[in-house]
Amino acid sequence: MMTEEAFDVIVVGSCMTDLVSQSPRLPKEGETIHGRNFFIGFGGKGANQCVQAARLGAKTAMVAKVGKDSFGDGYLRNFKDNGVHAGFVGQSPDAATGVASITVTDAGQNAIVIVAGANALLSEKELGEALPAIASAKVLLCQLEIAPQTSLRALRMAKEKKVTTIFNPAPAMADLDPDFYRLSDVFCCNETEAELLTGRPADTAEEAERAGRELLRRGCGAVVVTLGARGCLVLKSANAAESLPATPVAALDTTGAGDSFIGALAFYMARYPQMQLGEMARRAGHVAAASVRAMGTQSSYPHKGDLAGELF
Ligand code: RIB
Repeated sequence: MMTEEAFDVIVVGSCMTDLVSQSPRLPKEGETIHGRNFFIGFGGKGANQCVQAARLGAKTAMVAKVGKDSFGDGYLRNFKDNGVHAGFVGQSPDAATGVASITVTDAGQNAIVIVAGANALLSEKELGEALPAIASAKVLLCQLEIAPQTSLRALRMAKEKKVTTIFNPAPAMADLDPDFYRLSDVFCCNETEAELLTGRPADTAEEAERAGRELLRRGCGAVVVTLGARGCLVLKSANAAESLPATPVAALDTTGAGDSFIGALAFYMARYPQMQLGEMARRAGHVAAASVRAMGTQSSYPHKGDLAGELF
């Protein structure tokens, strides 16, 4: 059974219903402004990354918790529609499905407030039920929208079974348990997260590289720092940083582009294990660039057939 069920990528993480408003700008504190458009989509960093990996052709599974409500029912259908195994996604009567209130401005900026809801109830016991699937997976991926201890436990389980790990410390927390670094084969964050984690600026290329080196020094196997429209940095050893420019693109909505990048990276790590990390990151950058051309998170993620054949 386990051979049949061996997953390329297994994600232990969040599911959120994204409530997205488009507006000319972000409101100031205490201010009400008129928006232009509203839509509901499937989001949550964990599920976004999982769905992107699945759309590229990875065999994926999600370990998560949603509420026993209409958003939760919809989310289970969404996994089915995307070919993601949802046998480890529980529905709790004790909390609502997580939601993210997202405002996207005409200039493409966004601001997000999440309410974790049922995501916070995913327990280490439930995680234990997924152990056989984690143990046989090629890549395990975690973030920080569920209880950090659950993510840490998942990373430990994967490392004990010699499964390759990717950790995305988002949303970032300043007092991250040092074990997260040691348990990450690839630690992938954006420049804002790098700044919060290291306490150093990461705005310029030099600063981002310095922050990346500091993260690497904490024990990760490799560090990838995404820099939005400026591409990304890949650090595998203290002496070598590879800078990869982004694909120039007219961005409509960058929300979830980082998740598209990480989901794609997980796909390449699982399916092309001999490829250099820098090349994987370059290709993942192309996938993420495709995602910013449409509104929403998962609604904007490309399928394999939408992308150039040279990426596969
Ligand atoms: O990274 C984008 C995601 O962050 C959104 O889908 C939202 O749900 C929040 O989790």
